[in-house]
Amino acid sequence: MRILTISGSLRTKSSNTAVLIAAARLAPPDWEVVHYDGLANLPHFNPDMDTDRPPPQVLALREQIGLCQGLLLCSPEYARGVAGTLKNALDWLVSSLEFPDKPVALINASQRATSADAHLRLTLTTMSAQLIEAASITLPLLGRNLDADGIVSDNVLSEQLRAALDCFAHAIAVNR
Ligand SMILES: Cc1cc2nc3c(=O)[nH]c(=O)nc-3n(C[C@H](O)[C@H](O)[C@H](O)COP(=O)(O)O)c2cc1C
Repeated sequence: MRILTISGSLRTKSSNTAVLIAAARLAPPDWEVVHYDGLANLPHFNPDMDTDRPPPQVLALREQIGLCQGLLLCSPEYARGVAGTLKNALDWLVSSLEFPDKPVALINASQRATSADAHLRLTLTTMSAQLIEAASITLPLLGRNLDADGIVSDNVLSEQLRAALDCFAHAIAVNR
């Protein structure tokens, strides 16, 4: 099962990216986890460019979406909203054939970031994603300053994350 991960943070020591690296380590053994790292190079969404020949970075993103069986997203909250980089990528996917019905799990890396989580859910359901609620969790990482190793070696956090990933795998398998 191929799972694509996207972090909404471009920060080198991002807690959201750390969660996705930890998720790749805790994932079921039959998962191939691929991290999408093209957010910073996507052009700003412009409907005039969203033609039958979109920019190559957009084609590459859509191809990755088409190749995966599930999408794991993790985004920081900025000014009570979703990170603009991630929203920009989602805007490019609105008109794509690859995105609708795609199983998506959201891992919220901060117990305070309730607005971004709610905004992201609204956007994803509007885009006809298959949001897997049982696999979408909040990890209380705010104030912990943990990297991926720290998350994996914390029994409580790693168990929460592993359980969410197992739920995601189950939901994808059932819907196949
Ligand atoms: C410009 C800016 C705005 C932010 N706005 C919020 C906010 O509205 N709510 C919140 O809970 N955290 C806010 N934060 C804190 C970030 O969400 C937090 O630092 C998060 O861990 C960043 O994610 P990262 O570690 O993956 O880079 C903001 C941070 C920055 C830099």
